[in-house]
Amino acid sequence: MISRRTLLLAGAAAGASAFAPTALSREPVSRDTLPPDAPVRRLTLSAGEMEAALLGPGKPQTHGFCAYNGTPFLTVRAPRGTRLLVDFENRLPDLTTVHWHGIRVPNFSDGVSPLTQAAIPPGGRFAYNVPLPDPGLYFFHPHCDETGQVGRGLAGLLIVDDPAEARLGFDLEHIIVVKDWRLDAAGRWLPMTSDEGASTAGTFGTVRATNGQPVPPRVEAPAHGDVRLRVLVADSTRVIDLGCDTDDAALIAVDGQACTPMALSALPDEIWRMGPAMRADLHVRMPGPGQELKIYDYRTSEPYLLTTLVAVDRGRRSTAFKPKALPPAKVPLPDMKRPTRFDFLVQTAAGATAIAPPLPADDPLAQALIESACVGSKTFWAVNRNSWGAGADLRLPPPLQRLEDGRSYVLSISNVTKHPHPMHLHGHVFRVLSSSRKTGIPPYLADTVMTEPNETVEIAFRATSGNWVFHCHILEHMDTGLMGWFRVT
Ligand code: C2O
Ligand code: CU
Repeated sequence: MISRRTLLLAGAAAGASAFAPTALSREPVSRDTLPPDAPVRRLTLSAGEMEAALLGPGKPQTHGFCAYNGTPFLTVRAPRGTRLLVDFENRLPDLTTVHWHGIRVPNFSDGVSPLTQAAIPPGGRFAYNVPLPDPGLYFFHPHCDETGQVGRGLAGLLIVDDPAEARLGFDLEHIIVVKDWRLDAAGRWLPMTSDEGASTAGTFGTVRATNGQPVPPRVEAPAHGDVRLRVLVADSTRVIDLGCDTDDAALIAVDGQACTPMALSALPDEIWRMGPAMRADLHVRMPGPGQELKIYDYRTSEPYLLTTLVAVDRGRRSTAFKPKALPPAKVPLPDMKRPTRFDFLVQTAAGATAIAPPLPADDPLAQALIESACVGSKTFWAVNRNSWGAGADLRLPPPLQRLEDGRSYVLSISNVTKHPHPMHLHGHVFRVLSSSRKTGIPPYLADTVMTEPNETVEIAFRATSGNWVFHCHILEHMDTGLMGWFRVT
């Protein structure tokens, strides 16, 4: 039986094809970042809806929570050098894709509809080839209706282990996922987006949560022991200032990539600012028995407690704190002798605040068309005057820049808006060279970089072939124009 929905989707697919072809003469040859004989691990993955107790125990359940494999924040772990072959099935009632954030995947596995694949319909499957060349904390999430699906929980964690890290001798590893929920008091979803939010700092959750729960976790760790905290901001909107109430704390990895250990107390404001999609690894030294160590978000006027570590006596002695350096990352580094430079302005879309779809907005087909192209219906933002197609303007914009495979580039990114934008480049790990506002931070590797109002940051990378998007990770911003792409051949 063919339902009206199927018909709409079929129509949408036909309509969406108008979105793609910009006469891309030569398709980039996608690179593999692992040798063909790399060990393989198979992962059966599905996205679906479930019930979840997001308001906490004894409170009403929330329906329509989204998760991979029926597990909130599913965590997948594999050793570096492994190839994940993912058999993905869409059990959601909506279109979706899977993007492997921060992983240097072949372009066809990047999960960006409509640029690298068509959105996967309900009941559809897709095979992703996900090489894992670099250790660290990554995550995966949809790249279609992200604001809605990530907003309802759809995100998985991917930890790539480096066997060489075992000798560092951490006593405990603990993961902190920062993700709020937009719920009413009865546990029902509130709209994930609003024009007011999308055109400013984003629409915030109503319930703050750590690891899905409104009550900050308490975790036991050996007194005087060494704890590795892996922090992910999976929220669509929230920017946090990560810090803690001890001086014995250091940032040891950014976006999964090892960095020169930096004492938190030596960083500007003694915090590490993280926007949506950013990750940070901290090494913290536990206090004496019975004492607590608290991890906070200091960005809010009243610091928000993310997690408490409780020191339990396991017979360890107190020694001087020395941050542990992770083995250096082995990503392709830019050649800084003769990089090509480009300047990008992150700006508001002048005069494009509300482009109406060609069909009346309440026509289901108009909505299906927009959904199939995985974009929003309005345009508020732009990069160098280019906005990602939305609403009536369902077309693939020309690439922001054509780049050459293997060449090194420096991008200067200036945020000329009134709001922070965490900018993410797909398929690459780049080096953050400098910022016009934050000084004293040595260059580090990342896949997402914060740009504050009136700030210019410079990043450098060696381009690898493919069609790669570059966008703000405040998901409503990306859905309303703040996305462009690079074509690397
Ligand atoms: Cu985590 Cu294009 O995204
Ligand atoms: Cu933004």
